[in-house]
Amino acid sequence: VRVKKAEFVKSSTNMAQCPQPKLPEFAVIGRSNVGKSSLINMLTGQAALAKVSKTPGKTIYINHFLINDSWYLVDLPGYGYAQRSKASRLEWSGFTKEYFLKRETLANVLLLVDASVPVQQPDLECASWLADAQVPFSLVFTKTDKRKKKCPSPRENIQAFQAALLRDFENLPLIFETDSETQKGHAEEELLKEWDAVPNVLTT
Ligand code: GTP
Ligand code: MG
Repeated sequence: VRVKKAEFVKSSTNMAQCPQPKLPEFAVIGRSNVGKSSLINMLTGQAALAKVSKTPGKTIYINHFLINDSWYLVDLPGYGYAQRSKASRLEWSGFTKEYFLKRETLANVLLLVDASVPVQQPDLECASWLADAQVPFSLVFTKTDKRKKKCPSPRENIQAFQAALLRDFENLPLIFETDSETQKGHAEEELLKEWDAVPNVLTT
C-alpha cells in the first residue's frame, strides 16, 4: 500500500488559511454526493478520515490531509447542490475557484463523475472550466458498482461521458474507475502511481 500514513491537517474557508504551499497536493472535486470523501477514505484505507454522508453538501470546507508526510490530499465541497440555482449551473463557491486558480502547489485535480447516472451538464462544465483554466486534471468515475433499474449501465454512462467530452476536446484526461462501496476493482494503486509521477496537463 502506498499510503502508509494519512492525517487530517486542517479545514480552511479561504486561501490564507490553507497550509503553507510547500508540498504537492491533489484535490478531489465533483458534484455533491459523488463520493469525494469516500474516495479519500478508500485511498488512505481509513474509513472515517473524511466525513461521508448520504446527504449532499456534507463537505463545506477545504480539508487538507497529509499523506506520508510528503504530499496533501485535499477534499473540497461539491458543486451542483443548491436548490436555489439551476441544476446546470456550476455552483462553486468563490474560494474553491480561487483555490484552483491560485494554489501554486496544486499538482492535479481529480474530477469525480458518478458512473451510475447519465451524463450531467455540471460535470461537463466543470471539465471545460478546468481545461480552459489550464488546471491539470484526471477523471475518476465513482459508483461503478451501482446499477440503477431501467437506467443505462455504468459502462454506458462512462462511454457517453467520454463521447460528450470528445465533442469539445481533442483528447481525454487520464481516466480511472472506482467503487468505494465494495472496493471491487478499485484503482487506487494505479491512481497513486500516477500521482507520484509528474502530472500531465490536459491539452485541448
Ligand atoms: P459532499 O461532501 O456532500 O459533496 O459529498 P461527497 O462527494 O464527499 O460524497 P460522500 O463521499 O460523502 O458519499 C456520498 C454517498 O455516496 C455516501 O452515502 C456514500 O456511501 C456513497 N458512495 C460513495 N462512493 C460510492 C461508491 O463507489 N459506490 C456506491 N454504491 N456508493 C458510494
Ligand atoms: Mg464530502
